[in-house]
Amino acid sequence: MASSLFFFFVSFLISLSSTLLPVSVLSATVVEDLANLSPPSDFNATIANNCLRDPMLRYCNNTSSSPMDIVEIFRSTIVASHLCNESKNPNCVESFPRIRIHGRPKTAALYLSFDFFWKYCPLTVVDIELVNNSLKNCFPTNVLSCAQIRTLDLSYNQFSGFVPVQELSGLTNLTHLNLSYNRFSENKISDSDFFKRFNASSFIQSGVLPNVKRYKMKILVLLIVFPIMVILLCFCFGWLCIKRPDYFPRTWRRSYKFTYAMLEAATDEFSDQHLLSTTNRVDIYKGTLRDGTETKIEVYKEKVSSEKRREFGEECEAVYKLRHKNLVRVLGWCNSRNLRALVTEWTQGENVETWLSSSSAISWRRRLRVVLGVVEGISYLSDLWPEITFDLTTSSVLLSDNDQEPLISHFKVGDGNNTSTNVFNFGLFLLEMVTNLRPDMEQEDSERRYLEYIRVHYPDNLERVIDEKMTIEERPFDQVKQAITLGLMCTDKPPLKQPSLTQIYDLVASLYESSLRHH
Ligand SMILES: *[C@@H]1O[C@H](CO)[C@@H](O)[C@H](O)[C@H]1NC(C)=O
Ligand SMILES: *[C@@H]1O[C@H](CO)[C@@H](O)[C@H](O)[C@H]1NC(C)=O
Ligand SMILES: *[C@@H]1O[C@H](CO)[C@@H](O)[C@H](O)[C@H]1NC(C)=O
Ligand SMILES: *[C@@H]1O[C@H](CO)[C@@H](O)[C@H](O)[C@H]1NC(C)=O
Ligand SMILES: *[C@@H]1O[C@H](CO)[C@@H](O)[C@H](O)[C@H]1NC(C)=O
Ligand SMILES: *[C@@H]1O[C@H](CO)[C@@H](O)[C@H](O)[C@H]1NC(C)=O
Ligand SMILES: *[C@@H]1O[C@H](CO)[C@@H](O)[C@H](O)[C@H]1NC(C)=O
Ligand SMILES: *[C@@H]1O[C@H](CO)[C@@H](O)[C@H](O)[C@H]1NC(C)=O
Repeated sequence: MASSLFFFFVSFLISLSSTLLPVSVLSATVVEDLANLSPPSDFNATIANNCLRDPMLRYCNNTSSSPMDIVEIFRSTIVASHLCNESKNPNCVESFPRIRIHGRPKTAALYLSFDFFWKYCPLTVVDIELVNNSLKNCFPTNVLSCAQIRTLDLSYNQFSGFVPVQELSGLTNLTHLNLSYNRFSENKISDSDFFKRFNASSFIQSGVLPNVKRYKMKILVLLIVFPIMVILLCFCFGWLCIKRPDYFPRTWRRSYKFTYAMLEAATDEFSDQHLLSTTNRVDIYKGTLRDGTETKIEVYKEKVSSEKRREFGEECEAVYKLRHKNLVRVLGWCNSRNLRALVTEWTQGENVETWLSSSSAISWRRRLRVVLGVVEGISYLSDLWPEITFDLTTSSVLLSDNDQEPLISHFKVGDGNNTSTNVFNFGLFLLEMVTNLRPDMEQEDSERRYLEYIRVHYPDNLERVIDEKMTIEERPFDQVKQAITLGLMCTDKPPLKQPSLTQIYDLVASLYESSLRHH
């Protein structure tokens, strides 16, 4: 079969050279212009003659079923003779082992366009090199018709699409394949036998195999960069967790936990502009949290043992749970090695002491309302949180921004709520509310002196001690007297006549109600 094919080609060429003289003077440019060439008028007859002489010629085989493509046959014969000439061998048919077209895109494209030529690819051709010809589109499958080839080099082109692996595998004599530097699509089964037959150097940047460099990069990223990123991310995350949890959404964190860094940021590094007051125990700052909330930050300066720190944490946890309209809301705390601080809501309002001393007149009813709020706060604390003590003075009770509710602000979890002390302090508070006079803390035994001063005027000269700024009509005067009586009972020492918190509440509430009615 092979030898008959070979014979066919020889006779094919012979018949060409004997019958078609113009073909023997073809030049490369002629070949390139081949598309414009048409067969001479007698080419038809020539072929017919050839077929008559030798019916075994390939192109004669189809006469009955489908007409021969004369133009195709004509062009193919020219290409064949051209190739023959290219080999520069006078006896070209026998020494026509190689089609080698490097860097001549036009010619190469022309060769590839000849279906007929490739189908009857001369059996002598064993090497096909179409290197560097800017060839485009899909793999030139026609070439695969040359079943005998040993070398196929398509490198440095722009072929795309899939490589016909199965057909290539069928070329048993193919030992040297080069598809490098093309744009083929990646092969799905890159570990098939075919890819074992040819090593990676046949597919350098061909697109067929996964790009080793890229693959290595991926591995590198996966094995090194990714873990590093993860570690870095964890590190950042952890750092934020420890230092600035306020960068996380509220639901992710315990909102009562404040860190040194958070408070440092809230107060501009504890700057003097934010410092409201300072004593040797406590610095009080005004701070603005990251979400814009204004807060009061009490920083405890005393260095304490870890045992004390633990207690401080427990105290904070307790006061954090307080929820009452007359208690300042504790937002959270910081209990770290280098900072102990309590963070409470910010109230624009002044404290009761400055409020009383301010120039404007404050009516009896307004005063009673503040007293009632304080009593409600105390009752809540002693009912539900007996372990929490608080500091009740006109300076520690603040007024809320809007409706002037009083807010008890200084809490401490201590040895338990001492009811007697609370009632006593409330008595002082009540008396101050009525008299706008307070114990002179500079003096020794100031509270006793203060109470004595009021008792001296009780009950007949009370006008002397009642705050002048309070406009007193007849009926409230009774009430004011009752309030002073209550205050003196509360401050009774030893606490024999001290009323209970319930009694105090009932009395103040009824005073407040009647003051409303009276108005
Ligand atoms: C054969 O090649 C030579 C140069 O190598 C050229 O001059 C001649 O025209 C070619 N003939 C054909 C038929 O291509
Ligand atoms: C010969 O050529 C003519 C036109 O050139 C065409 O009509 C005719 O079919 C051809 N004969 C064969 C046998 O192909
Ligand atoms: C022509 O075709 C027949 C079958 O159609 C085949 O047997 C024969 O080998 C073919 N001849 C050539 C020269 O290819
Ligand atoms: C011969 O005919 C077959 C089908 O009948 C076709 O596939 C083949 O391309 C034809 N060959 C030529 C040279 O026209
Ligand atoms: C491809 O051919 C061009 C000229 O056509 C040449 O400049 C270039 O170096 C060649 N590339 C390779 C890889 O042979
Ligand atoms: C492969 O090469 C061997 C020996 O050179 C030859 O006999 C055989 O016909 C070739 N195979 C093909 C398909 O051409
Ligand atoms: C790859 O195959 C070529 C020949 O096909 C050979 O020269 C080269 O050494 C081989 N490379 C490796 C890494 O096996
Ligand atoms: C394929 O061609 C490229 C570029 O010329 C070359 O680097 C590579 O070694 C060749 N591969 C083989 C198997 O010859």
